[in-house]
Amino acid sequence: MASRKMQEIIGLYNNYVIQNYTRKDLVIAKAQGSTVFDIDGNEYLDFFPGWAVSGLGHCHKRVARAIAQQAAKIMHVSNNYYSEEQGRLAERLSLNSFGGRVFFCNSGAEANEAAFKLARAYGNGMRFEIITMEQSFHGRTLACIAATGQEKCKLGFAPIPEGFKSVPFNDKEALARAVNEKTIAVMLELIQGEGGINVADKEYVKFVRNLCDEKDMLFIVDEVQTGMGRTGKLFCYQNYGITPDIMTLAKSLGNGMPIGAMVAQTKLSGVLKPGMHASTFGGSPIACAAALAVFEAIEKEGLLNNIREMGNYLFDKLVNLKSRYAVIKQVRGMGLMLGLDLVMNAPKAYDFCLEHGLLINCTQNTVLRIMPALTVTKKEINQALGILEQALAKC
Ligand SMILES: Cc1ncc(COP(=O)(O)O)c(C=O)c1O
Repeated sequence: MASRKMQEIIGLYNNYVIQNYTRKDLVIAKAQGSTVFDIDGNEYLDFFPGWAVSGLGHCHKRVARAIAQQAAKIMHVSNNYYSEEQGRLAERLSLNSFGGRVFFCNSGAEANEAAFKLARAYGNGMRFEIITMEQSFHGRTLACIAATGQEKCKLGFAPIPEGFKSVPFNDKEALARAVNEKTIAVMLELIQGEGGINVADKEYVKFVRNLCDEKDMLFIVDEVQTGMGRTGKLFCYQNYGITPDIMTLAKSLGNGMPIGAMVAQTKLSGVLKPGMHASTFGGSPIACAAALAVFEAIEKEGLLNNIREMGNYLFDKLVNLKSRYAVIKQVRGMGLMLGLDLVMNAPKAYDFCLEHGLLINCTQNTVLRIMPALTVTKKEINQALGILEQALAKC
């Protein structure tokens, strides 16, 4: 039952905020690590912090400190000048990935838009088509919904921009058949997040890489959700033994500070020339300072090891749950990006968890998506599993 204070705030949303989200009656007031407090002081364990944005957990101390220090120095520098923070972050991204160059923006959709524009510019007007995967999710701008392989995201927004088509995920023949003389790029999420934690096969990803090389097409990986350590490597493509031509990032790059990035191979760095693309807020010192602190935390706190260790622990426990609860069809994922595919209506289990103090996510109606902070502990995992098990038993 929502308190009066909570009802008052929900009322403000009902009266003044566009109703384009489905929200639960929870007003979040503050948080630390994997713990969130609502406005009445009730405590929740957060296993899906900020839609995968708060990757290091809420209010990570290094990030909070970096933001506060940067805020007192300078917050924004327009992109007709230079700032040290943007330069240093581009260097970090480049040296930790494939040595490319970076364009900064503010969100995943914008990073993907930059990738589409770069690919089309590379195609030089002759080749412009981008092949994406069914069940993919690439954002909500018009070009991003065109790229997204889910009809529900396009409904009501016709005419949808041309130049995108989707093929079944992990299907080599379907992809090869879809390529024609107009194709300039193939884009995929190595683990489809919103699509239900569907993991790309290693063989398939190698096939995509070879096909792109053979046809001089660009291989774009959307790492908006999988990037920054989530799967046990800094970037998910590093689990696959391939290198993409373009990688897009956002979400946990700034751990709560809005920032997106497109990293492109050096061979592509001259394709976007001055005036062809821009973002007013892109790469601001304050967002870059937060992202630099995220890199520092991952390195200095040995988080990649924690992700692998806690990921394996959680995965094994979920497989154990599957052996005891027939409602679980499959456990999928990598690192700390895991999904439980259920035979039943997953929203009921989600609601039960919420009522009992555990925040997770439900996608595609049957999949419970579990993506705890990269700093998560065994104790927190055990606590979450206790609530999840009750949910599976009750629903
Ligand atoms: C894989 C992927 N790409 C792109 C996006 C869009 O990101 P944003 O909401 O920051 O525009 C998302 C968001 O969920 C995503 O999961």
